[in-house]
Amino acid sequence: MSELDELLAQALSAVAQSADEQALESLRVHYLGRKGLFTAHLKKLGALPAEQRPAAGKSVNLAKQRLHDAINSRREALQKQSLEARLRAERIDVSLPGRRRATGGLHPVTITIERITAIFALAGYEVAEGPEIEDEYHNFEALNIPANHPARAMHDTFYVEPGTVLRTHTSPVQVRVMEQSEPPFRMICPGRVYRCDSDLTHTPMFHQVEGLLVDDSVTMAAMKGTIVSFLRNFFEQEVKVRFRPSYFPFTEPSAEVDMSCVSCGGVGCRICSGTGWLEVMGCGMVHPRVLEMSGVDPGRYTGFAFGLGVERLAMLRYRVGDLRMFFANDARFLEQFQ
Ligand code: FA5
Ligand code: MG
Repeated sequence: MSELDELLAQALSAVAQSADEQALESLRVHYLGRKGLFTAHLKKLGALPAEQRPAAGKSVNLAKQRLHDAINSRREALQKQSLEARLRAERIDVSLPGRRRATGGLHPVTITIERITAIFALAGYEVAEGPEIEDEYHNFEALNIPANHPARAMHDTFYVEPGTVLRTHTSPVQVRVMEQSEPPFRMICPGRVYRCDSDLTHTPMFHQVEGLLVDDSVTMAAMKGTIVSFLRNFFEQEVKVRFRPSYFPFTEPSAEVDMSCVSCGGVGCRICSGTGWLEVMGCGMVHPRVLEMSGVDPGRYTGFAFGLGVERLAMLRYRVGDLRMFFANDARFLEQFQ
């Protein structure tokens, strides 16, 4: 009997110290299994005198029952412990904001073109398009820039093959629009243009928006008013603008429009080459010869045209220091426009 008490005490203390359910199960097999220590103890009963056997058998069974209960309650405790540990580990913070689905955004150049188009749409300008691979006639001749004209040198042209160029400006679309229908015209043409040119304020591919208005008695004052009110709408403030006399073979008189440099506030910096001004567009009254070559009667109609640099406007509006950033495809830059 004392052997039995000792065995039970040893088993109970092992159960109490078991660290997990697997260890507990091994203990159960060790003590209570078919080949376990208590079973072995029961077998010894055969050696006892017959009158002692029932009482001894009862004690063994009682001890087994106690161990059995101890194992069960230990198992429950261990299960509860591991459940609590799991709940702690897998706790969900329901107040945490969800992860947003990453979405793409429009490129700043696209946003700028849409903004320009929307402003001119309010004034009744329709959108026209022309080819990026253009013939020399539309890119140059029809704009009063004959071969060997010095103005061709200003354009840093990419030739696709003799007679065919990557258009150096959107002005050929003026010609195409005038060739295809009758005045009055009130159109803008956004598009890509190409020049062999690259620095802080020039890239080999960039975007222009061409504007053309042809009607009875269109004046230079109308052109100035249109451009200044466009720039005020675009920048949503009283911007500092100046019209500087200039030369384009396809307009007469001609001007270039400069805006106060946003980077230095007009003091002068490397972006504006120390001048305090950034050129944003060229403009002028459509040259009578250009009207005539495209089948518009210069005796009856007058008009103005302008060509603005989209990246230049985007650069000023978003205060970007280097125009080449627009084409570097750096996601950290582009994400800021979403
Ligand atoms: C022209 O391209 C004329 N076709 C504009 C015009 C149209 C004049 C209609 C009169 C009537 P210009 O080469 O200056 O002009 O270019 C116009 C604008 O494009 C510039 O003011 C500037 O804002 C932008 N620009 C010119 N070259 C680049 C370049 N390499 N990269 C980025 N923007 C440029
Ligand atoms: Mg220029």
